[in-house]
Amino acid sequence: MPHPTTTTTTHARHKMPLKIAVLGAGGGIGQSLSLLLKTELRSTCLAADAAIHVALYDVNRDAVAGAGTDLSHINTPVTVTWHAAAAAAAADEDPLATCLRDATLVVIPAGVPRKPGMTRDDLFSINARIVTQLAHGIAAHCDLSRTFVLLISNPVNSLVPVLVETLVADSSSSTDPDIAKTIARRVFGLTQLDAVRASTFLHAALGCGPSDRVRVPVVGGHSGHTIVPLFTQASQSGAQDHKLRAKVLALSPEVLEQLVHRVQFGGDEVVKAKNGTGSATLSMAYAAAQVAQAFAELLLDLRPDLQDTLYANIGAFSNTDVAKQVTKITNGLAYVSLPLTITKDGIQAIDLQWAHNLSAEESKLWTTCVRELEGAIKH
Ligand code: NAI
Repeated sequence: MPHPTTTTTTHARHKMPLKIAVLGAGGGIGQSLSLLLKTELRSTCLAADAAIHVALYDVNRDAVAGAGTDLSHINTPVTVTWHAAAAAAAADEDPLATCLRDATLVVIPAGVPRKPGMTRDDLFSINARIVTQLAHGIAAHCDLSRTFVLLISNPVNSLVPVLVETLVADSSSSTDPDIAKTIARRVFGLTQLDAVRASTFLHAALGCGPSDRVRVPVVGGHSGHTIVPLFTQASQSGAQDHKLRAKVLALSPEVLEQLVHRVQFGGDEVVKAKNGTGSATLSMAYAAAQVAQAFAELLLDLRPDLQDTLYANIGAFSNTDVAKQVTKITNGLAYVSLPLTITKDGIQAIDLQWAHNLSAEESKLWTTCVRELEGAIKH
């Protein structure tokens, strides 16, 4: 039986192709994310003059076959293939292996979502099993010194440590003495949805116009009180904006408190609205696609580095001076979401400026976040 793969026209390109694997591509986030990669990466593909291949994998055959076939009818130069675990017995090769081989960007939205009344931590045991199984596949079939892994599955706060530890354990026979650090500098949890929500909610609260691009940095983790939106450090179109800051500071403490609460528990609004059928999918796919596109541009040499706030093993960051400051600010947390500069070699720098500009309220939020994250990482 031929391997269950659907492919669009592959165009001859000049540069090394980029392969992106989406694991859990048949789900709510996975399908929407795959659509955005198929359509939004068109410009990346053309700018780099390189082929981009998005390989979809899921244990749900019908979902991934349907999504893969459907997407392959969209006329962009991005190639899509699909690979289903259920066909493993009939296939010549493990479909996960086929999906992952040569991928240098792996995005993982595989796992069960929340139902009303559940916290993200309630998902830990089932999703940790799924992520561990996928990590074994990544360690076996990807070049861990080149591949970036972006984890979406919840609880991000405790699953990124599981993912990193599994990849490191599976690489114990590597001849690279620094393989553990290399891996830790290339694996990230996606907390971008919190920044998307914070930016949306602040934009509305300030009554900004359609052309105002408000961005609110969010640090910490991705669960309730570990989410720390820094409204007083909001920027406009990439630049720190004093007028914007003045407008934020003019908001009453009650309004600011409501904004913080809405960002920390915004996921619950979607879980409640979906009434037992899942959690945020479309907004998460939007956030993940933006991050994936930045990594695609990095891997295709369209940019020398990228700056983003990602949940990572900052314990592995070895620049001694910065490491000391990070330890002080995070009370020695091994994993936390901070503004990072990332090159093709992984994390290169950690921006700590935000920590010196916290308002009194934000300092309190940060203290609570650090305490909760310590528990989540030891989960
Ligand atoms: P979903 O249930 O719609 O999709 C999950 C997909 O994973 C399904 O297609 C399922 O077949 C697949 N899957 C399960 N086990 C697998 C395995 N071993 N290998 C490959 N695929 C497997 O769930 P949805 O809504 O897409 O959410 C996915 C995850 O993302 C959940 O854990 C959810 O909590 C999390 N999430 C994370 C957010 C974040 O900000 N980081 C935001 C929203 C959701």
